[in-house]
Amino acid sequence: MDKILVHGGHPLNGTVRVSGSKNSALPILAAALLTRQPCVISNVPDLSDINYMLQILSHLGAHVERASGVVRIEAEKIKTEAPYDIVRKMRASVCVLGPLLGREREATVSLPGGCVIGDRPIDLHLKGFEALGAVSRIEHGNVKLFAKELRGATVNLRGKQGPTVLGTDNVMMAAVLAEGTTVIESAAAEPEVVDLANFLNKMGAKIEGAGTRRIVIEGVPELHGAEHEVIPDRIEAGTYLVAGAIMGGDVMLRRVDPTHLGALIDALRQSGYEIEIGKGTLRIKGHPSPTPVQLTTEPYPGFPTDMQAQMCALLSQTSGISVISETIFPQRFMHVSELKRMGADISLDGHTAIIKGVEKMSGAPVMASDLRASAALVLAGLRADGVTEVNRVYHIDRGYESIDEKLNQLGARIERMKA
Ligand code: EPZ
Repeated sequence: MDKILVHGGHPLNGTVRVSGSKNSALPILAAALLTRQPCVISNVPDLSDINYMLQILSHLGAHVERASGVVRIEAEKIKTEAPYDIVRKMRASVCVLGPLLGREREATVSLPGGCVIGDRPIDLHLKGFEALGAVSRIEHGNVKLFAKELRGATVNLRGKQGPTVLGTDNVMMAAVLAEGTTVIESAAAEPEVVDLANFLNKMGAKIEGAGTRRIVIEGVPELHGAEHEVIPDRIEAGTYLVAGAIMGGDVMLRRVDPTHLGALIDALRQSGYEIEIGKGTLRIKGHPSPTPVQLTTEPYPGFPTDMQAQMCALLSQTSGISVISETIFPQRFMHVSELKRMGADISLDGHTAIIKGVEKMSGAPVMASDLRASAALVLAGLRADGVTEVNRVYHIDRGYESIDEKLNQLGARIERMKA
């Protein structure tokens, strides 16, 4: 397994290009199953999670071609069963359920495992499918769906932790070919949901309200092929903003959509960082004495849970007491024990982290656990004394395109060691 060595203390300056959004590309690639005609998706990031999705689509019978960031998918004839050995590698594979049900009225996909950030149920996805007329069964580790017909319905997809992003995506993709009108109440409003709805509408769907808590879908008889460019990855962008904050340099992000990062920009400005918003660009400059902040993760447009670990790394080196409450995935603190190995002073009280900033952290061998926790360890290592060895780097490669190369271009000193 590869590992990366982060040599601390190198300031970051310069410009970094943000890649296409992983969490937008995954459901959009799955949505191409809804038509027999070819779809061409561009600005698709080169990530292992994307590769897994393309493997699943090929297994389902779609013809998949990829040339750098452009993917062409033609799903003329498809099977409806996605096997465990591919699905188990990536939980987001669950988003093929909606298109398979929508197009073929049946689907068999292995149940997504849990993961280190917590239990990953799909009860809300099933609630939406059943509202449309599907019957769901769990057997031999698979979720099986079957529907004689799909009829539009009104369904509320709010769970105890609020809306569901992939649940909203899945129900939307099943509803676009249902008879009649579907209303999704308490829908997720993330930019990635809006990007998917825009792609589906280019395919001939009739979706209104994406980006609000109430999405209305008028079913249509069939969808046609379409071309689409995936939006920039707001979490990758946020991660580089935090890198600029941690290393006190002058970092410019390009090909970013600043309107997707309002809550993070507010939090960083509140801490004292100067952030310039441009057309498709964001610029952050370091601050000699940033102040601590209190944050709570919330569904979009609130502070994103996917930026929680990265902020823990920043606030661990911001003097004063900061507090972060995690309301989406209450167990999402795998990074805390590793940051403490580097000298961070963090105590957990339920789903709240109390962070006492320290002057200097020290590099250490640390273990990556999930995608964003791993990124947080790299960020902490940028400033820590000495070398931080981040093991199990495959976690990072799932969601960050060439993070070591991009940071080195900004002046970091990161080595990737082939295991
Ligand atoms: C998406 O996951 C993202 N993944 C996650 O990003 C992100 O953290 C999450 O949304 C929240 O923003 C992709 O888009 C591929 P949810 P998703 O359904 O859709 C509970 C990353 O780092 N819930 O919005 O799976 C669930 O347990 C990843 O890129 C139910 O109770 O998350 C959680 O507490 C990590 N029942 C909350 O809702 C359900 O049926 C939000 O989950 C579904 C979810």
